Amino acid sequence: MIFYFSGTGNSKWIAKQLADILQEKLVFIPEAMRNAISDYEIADEEKVGFVFPVYSWGPPPIILQFIEYLTFKGYNNQYLFFVCSCGDDTGLTQQVFCSAIAARGWKCAAGFSVIMPNNYVLLPGFDVDSKDVEERKLNNAISRVAEVGRIIGGREELFQCKEGSFPFIKTKVINPLFTKWGISTEKFHATDACIACKRCEKVCPMSNIVMIGWKPVWGTDCTSCLACYHACPQRAVQYGKTTKKKGQYFNPNEK
Ligand SMILES: Cc1cc2nc3c(=O)[nH]c(=O)nc-3n(C[C@H](O)[C@H](O)[C@H](O)COP(=O)(O)O)c2cc1C
Repeated sequence: MIFYFSGTGNSKWIAKQLADILQEKLVFIPEAMRNAISDYEIADEEKVGFVFPVYSWGPPPIILQFIEYLTFKGYNNQYLFFVCSCGDDTGLTQQVFCSAIAARGWKCAAGFSVIMPNNYVLLPGFDVDSKDVEERKLNNAISRVAEVGRIIGGREELFQCKEGSFPFIKTKVINPLFTKWGISTEKFHATDACIACKRCEKVCPMSNIVMIGWKPVWGTDCTSCLACYHACPQRAVQYGKTTKKKGQYFNPNEK
């Protein structure tokens, strides 16, 4: 079984590739939570995976909430792994994830990062990758995911995450600030360029956007995945003034 979360399709693409290689079932975490499905029966030979993007050098809060919420029927030390997608580096994502798993009495046997095109644009200085870099990352990811699938298929106990520089400061200092202040829908709005196509409403993994009249309105249940911003065909979805000159990205296989 592979549990996954994804905003702009990178992690969804990885989860689908791995489900194919490993012949495991996929579970989309926001849907499971919406439908209040928390109990999962796992067979003795089954592998249990979590696939998610890195948010501010840690797992997104929804992943940690889901781990707290989840119960396994038939847990017997099955092989449990995670794969995180990131634009650059993971900080101490591995440690945070493994601690959350250990707090439930389970064991994380393996974890990997896969470098994918960047989708974070909300702070000054952050933007999507150039088309060259985007293409190179997408190409490299094909062999990387195949390799990760091979390692997981062999049940190897191995961790390969690209921590990057200053991982402690990034994960232990910046991440808590991001979780407290960086996730908010207050500044999201649609400009007059909006054509009411409802694409933002459809791509929001949290079902947090509804059309009221001809304009999207954001609720409070946001993960800051930025799917609404990146999927808008008119570039009408904006976040305050910071995104005005930023680029857009959505995984080409998951559009
Ligand atoms: C809120 C937010 C925070 C992010 N923080 C990081 C980060 O700390 N390190 C990193 O390398 N990439 C970071 N990214 C980039 C994403 O992890 C990356 O683009 C990922 O592949 C997106 O996955 P998705 O398409 O499945 O949503 C961040 C993206 C978002 C939206």
